Amino acid sequence: EELTLIRKFEHIEHCLKRNVQAHVSNGFEDVHFVHMSLPEIDKEEIDLGVEFLGRKFDYPIFIAGMTGGTRGSQLAGKINKTLAKAAQELNIPMGVGSQRAMIRKPETWESYYVRDVAPDVFLVGNLGAPQFAETMPDRYGIEEALKAVETVQADALAIHLNPLQESVQPEGDTQYRGVLKALAELKAEFPYPIIAKETGAGVSMEVAVRLESIGIDAIDVGGLGGTSWSGVEYYRAKDEMGRNLALRFWDWGIKTAISVAEVRYSTDLPIIATGGMRDGITMAKALAMGATFAGVALPLLKPAVKGDVEGVIKVLQRYIEEIRNTMFLVGARKVEELRKVPLVVTGFTREWLSQRIDLAEFLRERRRK
Ligand code: FNR
Repeated sequence: EELTLIRKFEHIEHCLKRNVQAHVSNGFEDVHFVHMSLPEIDKEEIDLGVEFLGRKFDYPIFIAGMTGGTRGSQLAGKINKTLAKAAQELNIPMGVGSQRAMIRKPETWESYYVRDVAPDVFLVGNLGAPQFAETMPDRYGIEEALKAVETVQADALAIHLNPLQESVQPEGDTQYRGVLKALAELKAEFPYPIIAKETGAGVSMEVAVRLESIGIDAIDVGGLGGTSWSGVEYYRAKDEMGRNLALRFWDWGIKTAISVAEVRYSTDLPIIATGGMRDGITMAKALAMGATFAGVALPLLKPAVKGDVEGVIKVLQRYIEEIRNTMFLVGARKVEELRKVPLVVTGFTREWLSQRIDLAEFLRERRRK
């Protein structure tokens, strides 16, 4: 258990002090809006609100889960409370990091608890898929899932799918057999929505279709092009073999832009587009491709560790203003209207998608036919 706590702390340290970003882009540079010289709307009337799992949010940005249960717990608690205050202020959803530490060490619960400062925030708990695997000793089931949500009074549970990260770390949980069946059983009984989320390697359409078939409520594509968990593990590796493996897989995965298109093309599930989202134009592209939210983790970590609520809000406000400006320049009054404006896809993203989906149809419809 102690190992889990130390590991989470090391992750934050490396994310703050080193370059842990993918060396490749998230693909959105290949997605282009067509500038509209006659937008026929007033910039002030633009509404950035979205609906998700029965709730209304003021802005289409999701604060992706990062932490909880670090050694000492104070740091994690400060990060989560800082993010939660910003989320409460802006009326946007947020996730906490993996609650595995809390399941093992219930006394760390406070580091995930934000209801005192964020009574209305749509809060998402977090557990890892390998913990539900058939071959995992003391595998998780509904009891642990309920504990994760109810201890922190969350509104939904995210289950992270992170085979990449687990596979390149020495103490990784590489059991994944029986995860889909376990999630299907959990979903059948569980009274809260479940979001399946990747953590930087993206979700393919084959996986998305399976997740939809068992009733999963939403997908956070967690695509390639932002924080690389293989990158984080590179810095944590203890020997040359470990460093080599993590470096080799640093840029493994499906780019965020591609993953959004694959999931939107193949399912009706709401999408959170996370992975290297660093400006509002990129975020608007994800929304235009059919995501409900753009998700952000790493850029918010720095102000959050300092307890700088205004700093977190400032970063988010910049994204919001950039999304709004983009919407003005393509004549979209609402996020749903963004999904109908023309898009042009070029380069690597076009090459990939042309082999995987009917790209012309997708660009016309941007929803499953
Ligand atoms: C994460 N992420 C993450 N995801 C998850 O499901 N459980 C977790 O415990 C964590 N922990 C975590 C810690 C830190 C410090 C970071 C930066 C990220 C992954 C996160 O939710 C997101 O999917 C990726 O970081 C990609 O987004 P960015 O960082 O490129 O914006």
